[in-house]
Amino acid sequence: MDLKKHIFDIPDFPSPGIIFRDITPLLQNRETFSYTVDLLAEKIKDLNPTHVVAIESRGFMFGAPLAYKLGLGFVPVRKEGKLPRESISASYDLEYGSNTLEIHTDALKPGDKVVIVDDVLATGGTMKATVELCEKLGAKVEALLFVIELLALEGREKLAGKKVISLVQY
Ligand code: PRP
Ligand code: MG
Repeated sequence: MDLKKHIFDIPDFPSPGIIFRDITPLLQNRETFSYTVDLLAEKIKDLNPTHVVAIESRGFMFGAPLAYKLGLGFVPVRKEGKLPRESISASYDLEYGSNTLEIHTDALKPGDKVVIVDDVLATGGTMKATVELCEKLGAKVEALLFVIELLALEGREKLAGKKVISLVQY
């Protein structure tokens, strides 16, 4: 199945000059959605993780069904101020300003092995901060899983040393 046919290119969104890769057509079709989740599962089948970690918000759309399919626990990494209990945070730079991500302190512990899932690898800042959070809690990060990789932004270089897997590349 050619997933790119179900990812629509939206020029000048959210700002001029940006091509937005819209995954909603892929999500709303039952065949492409289940095919995508099955393919993500296939890519990590030999890694034996204990948890799937996914990044708010679009990462949740793939991470939660992947965890369910694999019979694993699901750990959300959320944007600042959303988690109700004791958490740790990591920040990353944006073109203007910065963003902060958080994880509950008791979400992972030494001995846990995680795969982290997000929809898109762009500059890699979001994923790098998430790796830091998981490792700070003592978990081993087995693989970083993306549906889409935007090659020109070289996010993979920011994640050097980790196993980076993407389903489609632009
Ligand atoms: C987008 C996308 C990735 C991230 C990739 O999330 O879903 O999480 O950017 O960018 P990076 O590799 O340059 O860090 P966004 O923060 O826009 O929010 P959303 O998932 O809540 O839509
Ligand atoms: Mg996101």
